[in-house]
Order: sequence, then structure tokens, then C-alpha cells
Amino acid sequence: MVISRIKKTWHDDLVRDPETHAWVLSLYRAGEFHPQASDDYFPAWAAESAELRASIERHASDEIRHVKIYDRAIERLGQTRTEIEGLDVFNVAIREHTKVDFRATREMSRDTVRERLAHFLAHAHFLETRISQSLDYHLEACERSGRTEVARVVAAVHVDEERHTSYTLAAVKDLLPASEAARVLAVHRQGEARANLAFSARQVRSFLRRFRTSRSHALVYRVSAKMMEASLAAL
Ligand SMILES: [Fe+2]
Ligand SMILES: [Fe+2]
Repeated sequence: MVISRIKKTWHDDLVRDPETHAWVLSLYRAGEFHPQASDDYFPAWAAESAELRASIERHASDEIRHVKIYDRAIERLGQTRTEIEGLDVFNVAIREHTKVDFRATREMSRDTVRERLAHFLAHAHFLETRISQSLDYHLEACERSGRTEVARVVAAVHVDEERHTSYTLAAVKDLLPASEAARVLAVHRQGEARANLAFSARQVRSFLRRFRTSRSHALVYRVSAKMMEASLAAL
């Protein structure tokens, strides 16, 4: 409950000023762009069923479209995009905390390709789940503050992210025996949970360095960042 209230306040603060709003849209956009900068995302060829292949191809093209959507939204706020790289890209943060190689190649055995594909889809599932939750908060903040244009595009992206969340989970369970699927999902669930704490604390600290907010909010954010760092250290 407390975390939910802090997140609500955080997103309200972010959308209040076009500069901070563009910054957070740049963070979302960086995650959408990561697949285009990677050579191991969306290995549709590795799917044995035409249905899964089509879902992965659709997913890849959705994310390309989302990059353009966020670019336009930032432009309409009259802002320029912040260049985001390294651990400020949520996908990179997750990969840093999940030491699993999901690169599949055509030289690998069928079983290895299937396992790697399952790992990629499990990675995508937990990533998409977190993005979707974050967009929930962001969308509500946009609506509360009358940022209707951004709210409209975030709502459209959100619908796609929900689809990505569900088909990826179903595919992992379909690709692997139940016990193996559970093991793979646990690895990615734990990695994403660690990455979420590290990434969120990092972004809160970045916000406090770059932008102004009220003293009371700054205090809440500083305490939140400390608590997230302490939780991460305790994991
Ligand atoms: Fe997306
Ligand atoms: Fe997505």
C-alpha cells in the first residue's frame, strides 16, 4: 500500500513537468529500442510452431512501433529525447542480474534451441509484466494531470504489453516440461526482482540529481531509494 502511494506520487511528479515527463518516456523508449540494438532478441525462427513464430514476429514489430510512438509523444511535449544507455536501460539491468545466455543459433541441437527460446520468453515475460505495471501507474498519472494525448498513446502501448506478458508465459509452459518451466521462470523472476530494485533506486537517484521536486517528496524518494538498495543487498 505504501509502495503503491509512493509510486503514484512519483508518476504524478514525473508528468507534471514536460521535461521530467519526456525523461521518463525516454526511459520507456530505451527499453523498447533494446531489441533493435541486440542480436539475440525475438528468435522467431527458433519456434517450432507457426503460431509461436507469428506471435514472436508480431511482438518484435510491436516494439519497433512503440519506439516511434514514444518518439512522437516526446516531440509533442516539445522536448528532446534523453539518450539512455547501459544500466539505465531496464532490459540491460535485468540481463545484468540474470546471468543466463538465451542466444539461440542454428548450429545448436533442437533441445538446446528450445531451452534457449524458453529462457528468452521467460526474460521477456517478467520484463513485460513490470513494464505493464509501471504503465498502469503512468497512465493514471497522465489522466489525473490532463495529459490526454500521452495517456492515449500509453494506453495503446499498454494493450500490447499485456498481450506480450501472457503469450510469453504460455509459451514457456508449452515449450518445457512443467518442472523445467518452473525452474526457468524462477531464475528470471528472481533476476528481474533484483534488477527492479537496482534500476528503480538508480532512477530515483538520477531524478533527484537532475530535477527539482518539493523537499517532502525528495525526502520520500531518498528514503525509498535507500530501502530498495537495502532490500537488494539482503536478497
Ligand atoms: Fe513495448
Ligand atoms: Fe512489450
